[in-house]
Amino acid sequence: MLPKKVEELCNRQIEREGYSSNLYLAMASWAENKGMAGIAGWLYVQAEEERGHMLKFIKYVNERGGAAAVPAFKQPPVKYKGIHEMFKEVLKHEQFITVSINDVLEAAMADKDHATVNWIQWFVKEQVEEENSVQIILDKLDLAGEHGLYFLDRDIISARG
Ligand SMILES: [Fe+2]
Ligand SMILES: [Fe+2]
Repeated sequence: MLPKKVEELCNRQIEREGYSSNLYLAMASWAENKGMAGIAGWLYVQAEEERGHMLKFIKYVNERGGAAAVPAFKQPPVKYKGIHEMFKEVLKHEQFITVSINDVLEAAMADKDHATVNWIQWFVKEQVEEENSVQIILDKLDLAGEHGLYFLDRDIISARG
């Protein structure tokens, strides 16, 4: 049986992963309208992945005898200041998610819930990869500058995942 506190934090995580999915979908749509097909494509893929993360949490909570709830999601921003600013937001958001995943892990440790401690390792690793892939894009954006954005966008098409 999932400890109450762990169940609560897993449900909080369901909302956060679902919001991440919608946030990246909103960013993808905005980038697409700006003619940034590569970046939009990368963000659409991220949106799918985040939905997958939400599903993992829903299924895990139910599997452990808890009750997973699908919440309402707040609307993500419709407009962004620019590609660079948008990716800074993505990095900030992923760092926030990392802290949030660690909260679940720490609650599981405190409650000696070894099953969750073990299960959530996948997310711990995933967050390292996610923060890193966003940092790589930010580094490329710094290198490319405003004028290189077109080529960077084409570069990202071949670097999805
Ligand atoms: Fe996620
Ligand atoms: Fe993520």
